[in-house]
Amino acid sequence: MAYSEADDIAAHKADLTTMDWRMDQAKADLNWSESLILDVGGAGGLHAALLAPRCRRIYFTDLTDCNLRYKGEFIRLLAEKCERNGLCLPMARLEFHAGNALELIYRDGLFDFVCSFNAFEHISEPPRALAEMARVTRPGGWIYLTFDPIWTADSGSHFAHFHEREPWAHLVDDPERFEQRIRDAGATDQDIHEARVGMNRVRLAAHEQLLKVETLDLGLQLRHYQTWSGYQFTDAEAHPNHAAAMQKGYSSAELSTRGIAAVFQKRFGAGISSDA
Ligand SMILES: C[S@@+](CC[C@H](N)C(=O)[O-])C[C@H]1O[C@@H](n2cnc3c(N)ncnc32)[C@H](O)[C@@H]1O
Repeated sequence: MAYSEADDIAAHKADLTTMDWRMDQAKADLNWSESLILDVGGAGGLHAALLAPRCRRIYFTDLTDCNLRYKGEFIRLLAEKCERNGLCLPMARLEFHAGNALELIYRDGLFDFVCSFNAFEHISEPPRALAEMARVTRPGGWIYLTFDPIWTADSGSHFAHFHEREPWAHLVDDPERFEQRIRDAGATDQDIHEARVGMNRVRLAAHEQLLKVETLDLGLQLRHYQTWSGYQFTDAEAHPNHAAAMQKGYSSAELSTRGIAAVFQKRFGAGISSDA
């Protein structure tokens, strides 16, 4: 499907509508207009741009150095994209910093709200990234996390457009066969590289263990949790790959789960280290 700026912006707006609903479910009492926000894995900048009108300031960070990629013109180009689509946003509130979610460059307790959209199925070590997000959130502050599709979803390869009639091909094929399959369908060397290293391959149970159990040690209280199911492929469950994936040990629950969202509040009194 051809890229459309309008559709891209509409999808990012929809993400924020859903986020607002989940924050309501979590009874989040965030004072938006005073808030300093961080978006982790926020390349592209649309979530940050759309959040800008409601906050004091927003930083967004990504492993991909968008400033470098766009020769220092990233924020200006983002502003132009928004303007072309009828959005006049306070871009001066936005700052992009290239950086690794595993080692955030910010001091402890700096942010009122830390969010991440569709990056936790990519980031290589989710527990470390979440620990970093917890570290930079102030006590009483909020964390919002959402990601879809997880690795075990029918389109969890993130290259489903190259294996159009083969749901779960990335789970069922051995890696060489999968790479050959998508190469034959037009994948470039860059795509092949991304297919190899771009997804963290974390399974549903490990995500659940992290978000529901291990976060307690990070001083986070889970205030809202949601998973959703569904398939990108038509009649996915009837496809032989569904049975083949189950044969390989994937449960029907993880094969049908598409995405996960969680809202946390950092406990008041949860540590800020003395060398902040
Ligand atoms: C699917 S994109 C999502 C971008 C954006 N959040 C959105 O929803 O439009 C996933 C992003 O995660 C970033 N990413 C992956 N690993 C990362 C890491 N360790 N630290 C920071 N960003 C990372 C990628 O560079 C990529 O931009």
